[in-house]
Amino acid sequence: MTADRMDVTAVLKDQHRQIRRAFARAARPGRGRTPAFHHLVQLLATHEAAEEAHIHPTTRRIGRPAAAAARVGEEKQAKELLARLYRIGPDGPGYRRGLRALRRAVLAHAAREEREEFPVLEKLGRTRRRMLGLEVRLAKELAPTRPHPRVNGELANRLALLVLGPADRCRDLVRRWRTGA
Ligand SMILES: [Fe+2]
Ligand SMILES: [Fe+2]
Repeated sequence: MTADRMDVTAVLKDQHRQIRRAFARAARPGRGRTPAFHHLVQLLATHEAAEEAHIHPTTRRIGRPAAAAARVGEEKQAKELLARLYRIGPDGPGYRRGLRALRRAVLAHAAREEREEFPVLEKLGRTRRRMLGLEVRLAKELAPTRPHPRVNGELANRLALLVLGPADRCRDLVRRWRTGA
């Protein structure tokens, strides 16, 4: 990965593009819809959780508290839409309508982040921007799902990721993201 692609706004924009593509795949009918929906859930949960942990606190501290608070509120609403859609499931009635509503909310939210928060992040020093980019990437790669029944601790939870099935993982991500656990 080149230096520029490690920059926090480049990392976040790349994740926004991945989310947009994942919405398109999750809307397609057929057997691929369920895995596509689970992939979308995983992307959304980890992306928004990383922003809540690293991005909004930063923009709040460096001078855009109202924008940061508004984005957190939008993420909360998106969590509710996502949780509702998860309960419906990709084969359930109202899935397509629910997916469209979630897509509208998430993409409008991402556009506001890019417009209102990214210019603030771009004023940070290069090292700080790259550190934040790394934190967001790591949060996505290593997002813990649930405590393994026999182990404790953050590292153990990360390792437990490797043995959890994808469906379990998605369910856990929705619950954790929703409850802020
Ligand atoms: Fe967000
Ligand atoms: Fe975002």
